[in-house]
Amino acid sequence: MYFGRWLQEFGDVCCYRVMIFGHRVMISGVDDMKRILISQPKKYPKPQGEMKFVRALAGDGLVSAEGARHTRQRKIVSEAFHFEAVKKLYPIFVEETEALVQTWVKVCSADSRDGKPTVLDIGQQMSYVTLDIIGLTAFGFAFNCVKGSTSEVRRAYMDIMPMGGLNLIPVLLKTFPVLSLLPLPAFVRAEQAQATLRNLVRRIVDARVLARHDDDEDDGQPKNDLLNVMLRAGAAAPDSKAKLSNEELANNVRTFLLAGHETTSTALSWTHYLLALNPHVRTKLRQQVREKLKGRAPSFEQLSRNEFPYLMAVCKEVMRLYPPVPLTIRVTTTDDEFGGFKVPRDTILILSPGALGRRPDLWDKPNDFIPERWINPDGSIVQTNEKHPFAWMPFLAGERACIGRGFAEKEYMCLLAVIIQHVDLDIAPECPPIRSKSAVTQYPFPKLLMTAKLVQQPTAAG
Ligand code: HEM
Repeated sequence: MYFGRWLQEFGDVCCYRVMIFGHRVMISGVDDMKRILISQPKKYPKPQGEMKFVRALAGDGLVSAEGARHTRQRKIVSEAFHFEAVKKLYPIFVEETEALVQTWVKVCSADSRDGKPTVLDIGQQMSYVTLDIIGLTAFGFAFNCVKGSTSEVRRAYMDIMPMGGLNLIPVLLKTFPVLSLLPLPAFVRAEQAQATLRNLVRRIVDARVLARHDDDEDDGQPKNDLLNVMLRAGAAAPDSKAKLSNEELANNVRTFLLAGHETTSTALSWTHYLLALNPHVRTKLRQQVREKLKGRAPSFEQLSRNEFPYLMAVCKEVMRLYPPVPLTIRVTTTDDEFGGFKVPRDTILILSPGALGRRPDLWDKPNDFIPERWINPDGSIVQTNEKHPFAWMPFLAGERACIGRGFAEKEYMCLLAVIIQHVDLDIAPECPPIRSKSAVTQYPFPKLLMTAKLVQQPTAAG
């Protein structure tokens, strides 16, 4: 985490140069971040030139849109993430979680019969299950990664978004289209992968839009995925201009794949890593979850009522130390000042939730993994850091905050609650030394290999 180091070495405002891209100013003061994200977000938009890479991967959806286009899209898209909408999707989280654990149970049982340990690439496993979940919930598409599908679409997706990271080739091709004239196999493959995914999403969107004119049902069941909720919200909007076009719908579905997959996946990978390093936390978490769940998945209502404060505390503590989105980017639109330093107009600002989460003036023992810091004396969950309400910002805050936060938190807790009850994951002897690497997300690099052992289930007597 070099941003954390820079904060210690250079303070809240730090200017650095990125090869040919010019200067960046990293802002780590919590009040400055609050000003940029919450008090005056219009004054600090996302730099559109830098958003090219998001558009190259997902089209111009919510993450890259700016100004009135963003406000209009966010209004419709937010319908898909309301409490009730996420509740309808929750059974998919449970089903896919249980399918993953069942697969592991089979592998572990077979390995133990053969007398060998089960070693899993946990980054890959978390990536598979979260991609299966986002495919089904975003647009009803089964990637079937956990089942081991080798479909063209799955391969295309993995080509564009390799685990935890980002294939830079589509970005290069979008930025410098002339490169696509070079018949290099990697370029051709990247173009094909992009086209496969783009066409699939567009086909499904077009079919759904057509189907809406006849019948909104599928096998007698209304579809509740994010795409259909956006369609229904658009149809109900009083002003037809509020509706999203087919292209905007498709771009937002691809945006959900980009924003809603590796984020949750890397949060889970770091969780298994930190729990393995802190077995006392793992034991305590398992005991508390099991007491109520007896091996089952938590219900949506239980999670909404915060019935598992320690589960939530573990998730919050992991994301304080390793926020899945390690930084965000904004631009100044006037000459400005931060921490007493003059910063000219059109300067790219880098804001890092990760540096914020490790500030010694905001957190006691900032580099230690202590979920207990999130538990109040009465056992309830601490909602905000008492030193500053915006000290914890893995989902950011303000009008560009993560729209999928409610969805992500339920998915994260559902997966963790079930996995922790059934499997012990420990760092495998063959696991290389792990460090944090940042691309689209911040992920455990090079490969998180863990041994999996089944946990004995409680008897009927408890
Ligand atoms: C642990 C999981 C997640 C984390 C930590 C996270 C974090 C973030 C952050 C930091 C942003 C702001 C990015 C920026 O402005 O540069 C963001 C935006 C966004 N996220 Fe998430 N996210 C998570 C999961 C999800 C999921 C599951 C979805 C969708 C299913 C989602 C959809 C989005 C969208 C659409 C935006 C753009 C919002 C806008 O600009 O209006 N995220 N997320």
